[in-house]
Amino acid sequence: MKATTIYEGSHQWVVFGRDPEKPEKIIDTNQYLISTSSRAILLDPGGIEIFSSMLAATLHYVPIDQITDLFASHQDPDIISSLGLWDQVLPNAKLHSPWLWEGFIRHFGLNNIEYVPLQDDGGVIDLGEITLQLIPAHYLHSSGNFHVYDPHAKILFTGDVGAALEPEDGAPMFVENFDEQIPKMKLFHQRWMPSNEAKNDWVTRVRRLDIDILAPQHGRLYKGDDVKRFLDWFEALDVGVAIK
Ligand SMILES: [Fe+2]
Ligand SMILES: [Fe+2]
Repeated sequence: MKATTIYEGSHQWVVFGRDPEKPEKIIDTNQYLISTSSRAILLDPGGIEIFSSMLAATLHYVPIDQITDLFASHQDPDIISSLGLWDQVLPNAKLHSPWLWEGFIRHFGLNNIEYVPLQDDGGVIDLGEITLQLIPAHYLHSSGNFHVYDPHAKILFTGDVGAALEPEDGAPMFVENFDEQIPKMKLFHQRWMPSNEAKNDWVTRVRRLDIDILAPQHGRLYKGDDVKRFLDWFEALDVGVAIK
């Protein structure tokens, strides 16, 4: 599993992905670790198939007893079907996830970890040294869905928004030419995102944030001017039921 540090300051962000050992037919995913000097959280820790690679990769950065929190943006298996295995190695952790999906996510196995149900209007995750903001992203694509904003690092984790389907040979972690990205993300956004109204509400909300890096759960990350290019492109795209 490839690991790339995307922020290093008073705390750290690392993205894991491009796993050469994952089974061929499951979609490649990006998992994110945010760590302070004493605590760490995994954002969308991934599917059951990549659990062992993810655990090993994470332990290169933090000791297991410092992983105190997990976040699942929504209920999909590529996000959180590993939960039953994390539940065995992190019995005292908390899982922050939409209230809407609690009865479904528990099907992945949850006996020890505490489920913290996120209310629709968002809120925060307090890690002590840093506070992460939960940005509502409902219907993008899931009907109960959140993104995570770190105002200090200026990183917005966007789940499936911004996702691109890359070839299997290990694409770079960052977008290098935005126009070349468009064919890899157009169909994904048109088909997975159901509502223009939800999309445009989200674009308005996100434009108010100061963002250096937009970090999706599939494909490449956007930084600098590519963040604005992505928001402009997504705003102009008809998605879901708006497609004639
Ligand atoms: Fe999803
Ligand atoms: Fe996904």
